[in-house]
Formats: sequence, C-alpha cells, structure tokens
Amino acid sequence: PALYGATRKNSQGINMNIQKSLTELENAYRPQLDRQWQAAPVINGQTLSGTAQEVRCPFDLNKRVGTAQFATAAQAAQALDGLSAAWPSWNATTIDARASVLERLADLLEKHRPELMALCTVEAGKSMQDGIDEVREAVDFCRYYAQQARLKLGREELKGPTGERNELFHEGRGIFVCVSPWNFPLAIYLGQISAALVAGNVVLAKPAEQTSLIAARALELMFEAGLPKDVIAFLPGDGATLGGVFCRDPRVAGVCFTGSTDTARIINRQLAEKDGMIATLIAETGGQNAMIVDSTALPEQVVKDAVGSAFTSAGQRCSALRVLYVQRDIADRVIDLLKGAMAELKIGPTHLRENDIGPVIDAEAREGLLAHINQLKGEGKLIAEASLRADLNGHFIAPVAFEIGGIHELKKEQFGPVLHVVRYDAGDLEKVVAAINATGYGLTLGIHSRNEETAARIEALARVGNLYVNRNQIGAVVGVQPFGGCGLSGTGPKAGGPSYLLRFVNERTTSVNT
Ligand code: NAD
Ligand code: ALA
Repeated sequence: PALYGATRKNSQGINMNIQKSLTELENAYRPQLDRQWQAAPVINGQTLSGTAQEVRCPFDLNKRVGTAQFATAAQAAQALDGLSAAWPSWNATTIDARASVLERLADLLEKHRPELMALCTVEAGKSMQDGIDEVREAVDFCRYYAQQARLKLGREELKGPTGERNELFHEGRGIFVCVSPWNFPLAIYLGQISAALVAGNVVLAKPAEQTSLIAARALELMFEAGLPKDVIAFLPGDGATLGGVFCRDPRVAGVCFTGSTDTARIINRQLAEKDGMIATLIAETGGQNAMIVDSTALPEQVVKDAVGSAFTSAGQRCSALRVLYVQRDIADRVIDLLKGAMAELKIGPTHLRENDIGPVIDAEAREGLLAHINQLKGEGKLIAEASLRADLNGHFIAPVAFEIGGIHELKKEQFGPVLHVVRYDAGDLEKVVAAINATGYGLTLGIHSRNEETAARIEALARVGNLYVNRNQIGAVVGVQPFGGCGLSGTGPKAGGPSYLLRFVNERTTSVNT
C-alpha cells in the first residue's frame, strides 16, 4: 500500500511522523465522516451553554455536522477571572511537567488521527491529504515546543564578578489569549496553545467561528493528556464580541493571533488602549505571495509547483501563491502548460480522493471571491478556469487564472483558488521585486531559476518571511521551515521556529552577593 509520512526526523532529531498504510488510514477515517460533534464554552473544566449555531459541511450543505454553542461576553469575563486565579500555580510547575503534557497530547492526536482528519474534512472542507498534513503539523508543534521548552527555558548562570551569582530564567507572562483561524483549525489552534502553555501561561482559547467542533475535540484531548482543567478556558464564538472583552482586559498579558491583517490591526489598537499590563501581540496574518520565474526555469516544473501552490486547499493558505511573474521569453509556454494542468483539476467533495480541490469555507468567502473573479472576467483578463460540475451543493469555486499588468492591481488578498499571471521583461527583475515589496506584505515568495545568482539577488532584495527556490511555496514543516512573515504579514517570531517560545515568556535575572 501507499505510505504517508514515512518516518523521518527533523533537524533537532525529533521523530516527526509515523508510518502507516494510507488504505488502513482511509478505512478508519471513512466511518468518522458521518458522526455528529458538539462544541460549547468550557471554563474551569465546566461545560457551559451559549447561543447554538448549527454547523454544516462546506462541500455538502445538506450535511449537518454538529452544533456549536457560542460564548457570551459575560463568559469571556468569567473565563479571565478563573485564569487569573490559576496562573501562579501553573507558572510554578516545572518545564518538564508542562512539556510532558504536550508530548502526551501529541500521542493522543496520533491515536485519534482518523477522527481529527474527518473533522477537518466535514467542518473545514479539507481533503483527506490535507487532514493528514494538518494532524501531522499539530503533532509536530506539540513535540517541537516541548523540546524547545526543555532546551531554551531553563535557568542559565551568567558570568559576573567574583562574589556574585547571576542567573537568567524565564517564566510565563500570565494570561495569553490564543485566537486562531479556520484554515488550519487544528494545527494553528494547537500550535498557539501549546507554545503559550509550555512557556508557563494560562490560555484563553478562541477558535474561529467556522471551526469550533474540531477545537472542542482537541480540548478534550488536552484534558486527557493531563492538562489541569483551570489553566485553559475554551470560548468558541464571535471574534468581535469576545475580542471586545479580552483585548480590553487589564489582566491580559498577551494575544497570539493568526488571521487577517485587518483583524490584527483591531486587536493591536484595543490592546494598546487597554489599562493594566502592556500586552504582547504575536500576529501572523495574510499575504500577497508571488513566484518569480526567469527564462532558465523548467516550465513543466514551474507549472506543477505554481498549480500546487495556488490551488491546494482551494487556495485557502496564507502561504498560497497569488501572483506568478513569468519572464516574457517563456511566458507563452508556461501559460499553455498552465491551461492544460488546470483543465485536469477535479473539483468536488473532499472526502473522495478522486477530487483535487474542495470548497471554500463559507458563502461569504465564496461571494467575495466571485466578485473579484467576475470583475477580472469583465475586464477580459481570463486565461483559464477549471470546470465545475453543476450538481455540486457546496461553497465551490472553480480554480481560475487571469493575466494582469502587475501585483499593484490587486488591492487585497484573495483567499481562494485565484491565480494572477504577470509577464515581465528580462531586465526588470529588480522592478518586479520592488513591486512585490511595495504591497507591504511579506509572507512567502517562490523563485524558479536555474541561475543561482538570480536566486541570490532576489533573496537579498525581497522582504519576505519564507523564500522557496525551485519548489512549491506551501506546506512549511515545523522545525525545518519556521513559518511567518513581516510587514503586513505579521510580527514574528516564526511559528515552529527556535525563537517562538521566547515571545511567550518574561525574562528575569537574579543577582546574589555571595
Ligand atoms: P479573521 O481575521 O477573520 O479571523 C481570525 C480569528 O480572529 C477568528 O478566530 C476570528 O473569530 C477572530 N476575530 C475576528 N474579529 C476579531 C476581533 N475583533 N477581535 C478578536 N478576534 C477576532 O481571519 P480568517 O478569515 O479566519 O483567516 C484567514 C486569514 O488568516 C487570511 O488572511 C490568511 O492569510 C490568514 N492566515 C495567516 C496565517 C499565517 O501564518 N500568517 C495562517 C493562516 C491564516
Ligand atoms: N504553514 C502553512 C503553509 O506553509 C500556512 O502552507
């Protein structure tokens, strides 16, 4: 049978994956697709009721997946009271004890992989492969941050004058609010929470409105892994309602946010104006990601990587390719191949492995994308559009490619399967990079060139977080490609990287006259 994720170790020697037969996995995953799930606010381990929201599957709108109870503003305030009381004792636990919770959680995530994959599929519309990758990334985050905590968060003696002992050590900052997006409803959700917890913080977890069910299931696994019930509060619900409470509360020490740039700005403003602690903001936001292809590139490889980067997960990755810059000399060839590749794409329900591209997350996302698509079609810029079956009953968008004059024509991130192609002239490489930088975003950038000097020149000029040469530009691996951008794309530090945990702690020193 085909194998997924053959055993491999990351650069720190952590075993990042387990080996298992894909068929065996699929057999375990299928029956889970028809289950019903529930989510509700949980404070101090107590499940509360909120405003009930029915959850439907994005690729089959007749399919009910479960019910999410959305938390109220009063519950957010109640959660912060409980967390305040719990912080001192959690902060006093050993790093080893906290890291061990994450390692047990990683084991449980692996044990419940088929169920979690199914939740990714029916709640977030993810393909089976995306579900495999999602659970693997969540596991990787838990194990990586456990290892990093043991390595980086201990006590360190610093050299000083004779007769004095100096020590540097870390402790949690207090209450960290973790606000996550729907597009990585398990990996980013747990990545944020596990980092905050292992660093000694208590956590208010606020998953995206669209993906409360998988977040609630992961919470149960956290408790099963031995996380004390009072150190995390779970508040599914409306971001603006709950954010209006936690971003203004004097006791909140930090917010770890992943989502749109607009929301990051709102949170930043509210945190800046609140009383009490000066709060830390870690924000990972959107992108306007490009790939630059020069005339030395291999067109077949370019198209394979461009299609994968633009359309995998229906283009709903912050890392996804939005603008393909192709040197004029090979542009016709690349565009021809692109048309051919897009004609082969199969769009449909994502639990079926025959389909390549699933739905976008909801009706609002679909409408926003269609407005952009219809505008560019009206301007006569269409290059190719994949075909969409008429009998589909979900939030589907056919992958589409347009030719435009430059990245400056795009006023905002289009978070879906829409690719824009731009031709550039041989001498204009610097201008291309300048135009990409001028968007203000700086998340991923792809390069296809067999000329190493070109790649090095772009690397020196481009202001981006993750640069990928002669490959696709999605799917960063924890501990191997730490992920995150700059400018409008976020504050850093990079998730899954060696500096991440340090943003969640207070550094302290003690100097003793011996
Ligand atoms: P979003 O900003 O609408 O929502 C993200 C989270 O913020 C949700 O939990 C939401 O409820 C919450 N939220 C909304 N308003 C809030 C407020 N006023 N106060 C507090 N919280 C609030 O983003 P989305 O549509 O869920 O996610 C897609 C976006 O996320 C895209 O822009 C994508 O590029 C970005 N993203 C970035 C990364 C990264 O690592 N850079 C990763 C994934 C997604
Ligand atoms: N970390 C995700 C990726 O690289 C967003 O695709």
